[in-house]
Amino acid sequence: MSLTPTRDDKFSFGLWTVGYNGADPFGGPTRAPLDAVHAVEKLSELGAYGLTFHDDDLFAFGSTDAERQTQIDRLKQALSDTGLIVPMVTTNLFSAPVFKDGGFTSNDRDVRRFALRKVMRNLDLAAELGAKTFVMWGGREGAEYDVAKDIRQALERYREAVNLLGDYVTDKGYDIRFAIEPKPNEPRGDILLPTLGHAIAFINTLDRPELVGVNPEVGHEQMAGLNFTAGIAQALDAGKLYHIDLNGQRGIKYDQDLVFGHGDLQNAFSLVDLLENGGPNGGPAYDGPRHFDYKPSRTEDENGVWDSAAANMRTYLLLKERAAAFRADPEVQEALAASRVDELASPTLGEGESYDDFLADRSAYEDFDANAYFNGKGFGFVRLQQLALEHLLNAR
Ligand code: GCO
Ligand code: MN
Ligand code: MN
Repeated sequence: MSLTPTRDDKFSFGLWTVGYNGADPFGGPTRAPLDAVHAVEKLSELGAYGLTFHDDDLFAFGSTDAERQTQIDRLKQALSDTGLIVPMVTTNLFSAPVFKDGGFTSNDRDVRRFALRKVMRNLDLAAELGAKTFVMWGGREGAEYDVAKDIRQALERYREAVNLLGDYVTDKGYDIRFAIEPKPNEPRGDILLPTLGHAIAFINTLDRPELVGVNPEVGHEQMAGLNFTAGIAQALDAGKLYHIDLNGQRGIKYDQDLVFGHGDLQNAFSLVDLLENGGPNGGPAYDGPRHFDYKPSRTEDENGVWDSAAANMRTYLLLKERAAAFRADPEVQEALAASRVDELASPTLGEGESYDDFLADRSAYEDFDANAYFNGKGFGFVRLQQLALEHLLNAR
């Protein structure tokens, strides 16, 4: 297995990731702005296949039509020169002061109408560039104060917005699906649709649920103390994993956006194992872009930016290699069987077994030895986990 990224690996990066200039709430930029064309060239050289962006990453908020077009044309030229594609586009509804109380769910109706128009314009651009996924991250859709936001009405307005956008792409014939990105907080004190579970439940209330999935981010679920791999498994179970944001996070704190694997490495291992080996017959469970949404640390200069971009891809490929070795190890297979991991795939009732048959089965209850589980019948999960860890450490 090669550790050199190729286009077939489908690695993509946000323009805002490698383009992050280091500004945070406590200090200004530590790096010069990064030109989009340069970003495309470097990412292509490093083996990525895609670039994603917010409208405002490419042309500043408030640009004239001519300025906007110039930037679009420059990007198109760079894409055609390098062969990079734009698999996903997203809209910035969080930076400009107008969005200080959100876009789709601002209390101010005029802001909501402006936000929707900004998104529709950006959808036209996404379609023009051939993007298949349109991410909606509602970082400002939320509140700091419970009394300041009617959450049920906010959800109603969110639904109204997504339904309208669904009608729009359908009527225009755009081959685009939406992916909602959950995040529990930051920049708002509390954000609407804070976790994967909230987002999936909301999607099921939409007019066109088939058009809408999720774009989960490693760090966002981990900021809520949740297990990312388990969340991804549920998104797959719901058929809703339309896109993914890979990065690293160390515990429940501000959104760190570290390089993939530089946070919870064991969870990153199980995630890659799930994505690459969790599908039918052990194949991939997800075939979309492996999109990195990280921030090159503020301490780095431009060399550090490209080192960190390469690190994301290399770490993914290393984990993919380690997960393949884990799956292929006969001792792991024996340990998986001893832990009865596969037995969970057997339905609890037999084929055609009615509840009358079930009630008549004395072995299921009357004669079942529940006491045998005290001081016996251990599952062997610790041994299994140690084998996983040893593969992760390349010790086997
Ligand atoms: C964040 C988010 C964003 C979104 C991006 C795409 O926490 O800042 O992850 O980076 O992914 O805005 O819509
Ligand atoms: Mn993030
Ligand atoms: Mn993200």
